[in-house]
Amino acid sequence: MTTIVRAKVAHTPRNPFVSDDALEVFEDGAVAFEGGRVVAIGPYRAVQTGHPDGSVLDEREAILLPGFVDCHVHYPQIRVIGAMGLELLDWLRLRSLPEEARLADPGYAASVADQFVRGLAANGTTTALVFGSHFLEAQEALFSAVSRAGLRVASGLVLSDRGLLPSLEVPAGRGFELSRELMERWHGRGLIRYAVTPRFSVSCSDELLSVCGELAGALDGVLMTTHLNETRDEVSLVAELFPWAHDYLETYERYGLVGERSVFAHNVHAGDDELARLAAAGAAVAHCPSSNSFLGSGMFPLRRHVEAGVRVALGTDVGAGTGLSMLGEGLMAYHVQMLEGADGLPLGPAHLLWLATAAGASVLGLADEVGDLTPGKSADFVLVRPAGGSTLSAALEGSGSVADALGALFTLAREDAISEVRVAGEVVYSSPATSGASGAVG
Ligand code: GUN
Ligand code: ZN
Repeated sequence: MTTIVRAKVAHTPRNPFVSDDALEVFEDGAVAFEGGRVVAIGPYRAVQTGHPDGSVLDEREAILLPGFVDCHVHYPQIRVIGAMGLELLDWLRLRSLPEEARLADPGYAASVADQFVRGLAANGTTTALVFGSHFLEAQEALFSAVSRAGLRVASGLVLSDRGLLPSLEVPAGRGFELSRELMERWHGRGLIRYAVTPRFSVSCSDELLSVCGELAGALDGVLMTTHLNETRDEVSLVAELFPWAHDYLETYERYGLVGERSVFAHNVHAGDDELARLAAAGAAVAHCPSSNSFLGSGMFPLRRHVEAGVRVALGTDVGAGTGLSMLGEGLMAYHVQMLEGADGLPLGPAHLLWLATAAGASVLGLADEVGDLTPGKSADFVLVRPAGGSTLSAALEGSGSVADALGALFTLAREDAISEVRVAGEVVYSSPATSGASGAVG
């Protein structure tokens, strides 16, 4: 049975950094899906004529976009969002790590996992690469919550064996065993995949990084994610800890951690040679602009990444990031490039939509599955509907085209404007305002 959603529709089936007609929009548009897959997208009349028996959902007040893809977000940090006044290393020591240590309590971890997963769905994020917990049971809690909610998530146990808090550290051998156990239980189960997750070189010995290299090659489709070149102090610390390395990237390269399934968060202070090597390896960078501003980490050199041929997508990096909204993160990316002046890469609505959806799908190896609404892809989408009388609804009234409306959405639409979210055609979130229900997932 075919379902047709009638709405204003926008997606980016092509890359706006290389194509002038990346954005495809349908003012009175529709997406039809069946068996969880998109079967048609286009003007409503054409879609309806092609599927005359389809049941039509009238969402003409809403804008339909592909589900958002968050390429870097920390589940145990949802309760420390907004901890102001600190740069990265102090923020970790004083705010984030003490909170992460609380997830040793499985009951606490389960409630954080539920809040986090609900937050993703409520913000229209259907796919995410999630930085997990240092504790086995807490990581199980995340996978269980994701599985109940029906989201598409890659995640894994975070590994560290030095320099954090003793309770967050495990010796390399134990880290290997625990990761294998989780990987075997969860990788490929439903929409879940495993991501090998050394926290960052600052908190990993050579032996632990080597174990991570082994884990990353253990099963097909496993991802690897970590942090890279986030702040100047962190880069200096890595140089002290790894005197043999010429730069930060080499600490990962030596252990086989830089490849097509690797996603590095930040890379604000990247050297030209590092960019060339990331591009040659097909590795990707998760740009996290709200976090970079919040911690004062620096201005992301997007133009240098794009010119070097490094794949870039967006991450909210909660809890250093300022929220789970990929629309908000898109706006921050736009701000940063504007502030960089001549060094910046000016972004428009098509770039922001691409970075928040299809770029992420590509970075996570899911380009054939999600990221846009081309027929054959999974019906993962979000309906954004402005509340009556809101500033967003005023701005949308003033926008002459769907492309203009997209600019208004990135600027003004947040969690309260997300009315419904679907993964493979199934509702994973519907807002209390729309459904009269609790807005719960799953
Ligand atoms: N580097 C190592 N751990 C973290 C973290 O939790 N957040 C950020 N922003 N950077 C990190
Ligand atoms: Zn991070």
